[in-house]
Amino acid sequence: MSLLERAGLALLHRLDPERAHALSLVALKAGLVPLPGPVTTPRLATMLAGLELPNPVGLAAGYDKNATAIRPLSRAGFGFIEVGAATPLPQPGNPRPRLFRLTEDRAAINRFGFNNDGAKAIARRLAARVRTQVPVGLNLGANKTSDNRAADFARVLATCGPHVDFATVNVSSPNTEKLRDLQGSAALAALLAGVMEARADLPRPVPVFLKIAPDLTQDELAQLAEVALGSGISGIIATNTTLSREGLKSASRDQQGGLSGAPLFERSTRILAQLSRLTEGRLPLIGVGGIASAQDAYAKIRAGASAVQLYTAMVYQGLSLVPRIVRGLDALLARDGFASVADAVGTGRDEWI
Ligand code: FNR
Repeated sequence: MSLLERAGLALLHRLDPERAHALSLVALKAGLVPLPGPVTTPRLATMLAGLELPNPVGLAAGYDKNATAIRPLSRAGFGFIEVGAATPLPQPGNPRPRLFRLTEDRAAINRFGFNNDGAKAIARRLAARVRTQVPVGLNLGANKTSDNRAADFARVLATCGPHVDFATVNVSSPNTEKLRDLQGSAALAALLAGVMEARADLPRPVPVFLKIAPDLTQDELAQLAEVALGSGISGIIATNTTLSREGLKSASRDQQGGLSGAPLFERSTRILAQLSRLTEGRLPLIGVGGIASAQDAYAKIRAGASAVQLYTAMVYQGLSLVPRIVRGLDALLARDGFASVADAVGTGRDEWI
């Protein structure tokens, strides 16, 4: 990390976390953050559900909720970017404060509750973007007051789908009451059928991923895997934030919401490995939760992920973390004799089960 980045982060950490988040986006859009451009090597170039990724390290949903910083984020070193969550109608989200830094734990708790500008405004921004080699996807959400939340996911896909490279069904946010109930077998099968219909109506059907919670039991996970395999979706993102508060030290540890960052790493990687065993290569998996180094990204890949995503570690290590992780991952793959990311996927899975 450069001295300038260190100073910038120190400044941001003196502010309320939500203001700091907004300011980091402003700095990014204003060109104040040095960006390496896309980072790739032949070893890192990855096919994910038909998407050509320059590298397998992506930005997780929730940082660029309104798709306002796609251009600079595409030059930050990520191999793919997920924006959103977008809901059919704009909504303000939960009252503030709703984002908390847990510095001692290298973690965050958020209970934003899908604050966003709504699918129409977000579709306009996605349509206006300059397409690059870095695929851009949208996280689909449901309105809090909707009388048919399951249908909301299909609505957002119908509105924004023509302008994205992939979409993610997010039934795993803990911050919209009862949303996670949609992960149950019957509800999930019906919801995904609706989403797949909306996908079939798109001018160019895009891969659809399902993002799951890390707080599922073994049985729930097995049922979910079965529904996912029968639904025609293109992959699973494991995982979203957790409701667990195990082993935390920071003062804000009892805040309500979803916990992300380092303490989520083990739990989410275990779910990923279990899912890898359940799906046996029939669906690509994307590993997310607590990645803060190249070693962490590599561990997720060896646990069964074809690609990874991260968010919270950037709060503590800045955006320069991204090319560090990407280049470090390339070096780890080379060290262990892997010619591609795909060759390493799942090779360490049994250590997590
Ligand atoms: C998130 N995350 C998230 N996920 C999602 O599917 N839709 C969303 O809108 C959001 N919003 C969001 C906001 C904030 C402030 C955070 C910290 C996280 C979850 C995120 O994409 C990711 O799954 C988890 O944060 C775990 O990864 P990290 O942060 O530990 O790398």
